[in-house]
Amino acid sequence: MTSPFDLTGRTAVVTGASRGIGAGIATALAEAGADVVRVARSGADISADLATADGALDLVAQLDALGRPIDILINNAGIAERNPAEHHTIQQWDVTLAVDLTAPFLLARELGGRMLERGSGKIIFLGSMMTWQGGRNVVSYAAAKSGVAGVVHALANEWADRGVNVNALAPGYIETDLTSGAHTDPERRETFRQRIPAGRWGTPADLGGAAVFLSSAASDYVHGVVLPVDGGWLVR
Ligand SMILES: NC(=O)c1ccc[n+]([C@@H]2O[C@H](COP(=O)([O-])OP(=O)(O)OC[C@H]3O[C@@H](n4cnc5c(N)ncnc54)[C@H](OP(=O)(O)O)[C@@H]3O)[C@@H](O)[C@H]2O)c1
Repeated sequence: MTSPFDLTGRTAVVTGASRGIGAGIATALAEAGADVVRVARSGADISADLATADGALDLVAQLDALGRPIDILINNAGIAERNPAEHHTIQQWDVTLAVDLTAPFLLARELGGRMLERGSGKIIFLGSMMTWQGGRNVVSYAAAKSGVAGVVHALANEWADRGVNVNALAPGYIETDLTSGAHTDPERRETFRQRIPAGRWGTPADLGGAAVFLSSAASDYVHGVVLPVDGGWLVR
């Protein structure tokens, strides 16, 4: 019997797959059998700059040109601009909302629309602990990642009965370039570690299992969930 987690024959697009969590998710999906198209500004299969709507729509055109249906969209590319709220600039606000919220919505609208026509598909956004918490000095990131939950809920409501699953992963504190300011500073690294019930920082590979689950038939009745993969951070 085929495993419900098997992704053989599915084509997956992972944005922000050149490094970090996106690279970890791309590897996990490939290991589960998927044909994975990796996207980033550089160092990936397809180059796209998701800081503008035109860049997101250009990515859709590049994917259409591949001539094969996209079964799985992982909206992973993301940035965080750090600056106290009273000094946060409009440029920092705009670029964060563009990459972390607007581009994921546009990709979901376009590729999700094609999935609706076929009656099947899986879309996974990336939330964060900032989907629920405020953090410090990341007001634009908190706004974008809270917004991701709203988009996921709305799309799930509209698309759940049409064969398309929309969900999100919410990583805790994962060792990547995005968090290097914290995990490469021994003191800050240890402060975070002590607050994580699992007793360690996460790695990109830690997101793999949940990503495969939400991409596979195993999650066919799961809609509108923002799934923490956080070593227990939220329940501390
Ligand atoms: N690390 C964590 O602890 C953590 C926690 C919660 C949520 N997350 C979320 O997980 C996702 C991945 O984060 P990460 O930690 O893996 O970050 P990362 O290591 O900094 O990697 C970010 C990825 O996004 C791509 N990217 C950045 N700006 C882009 C743009 N304008 N256009 C296209 N691609 C772009 C980068 O490639 P290029 O620079 O080559 O374009 C890279 O592949 C993000 O959505 C982030 O918010 C991370």
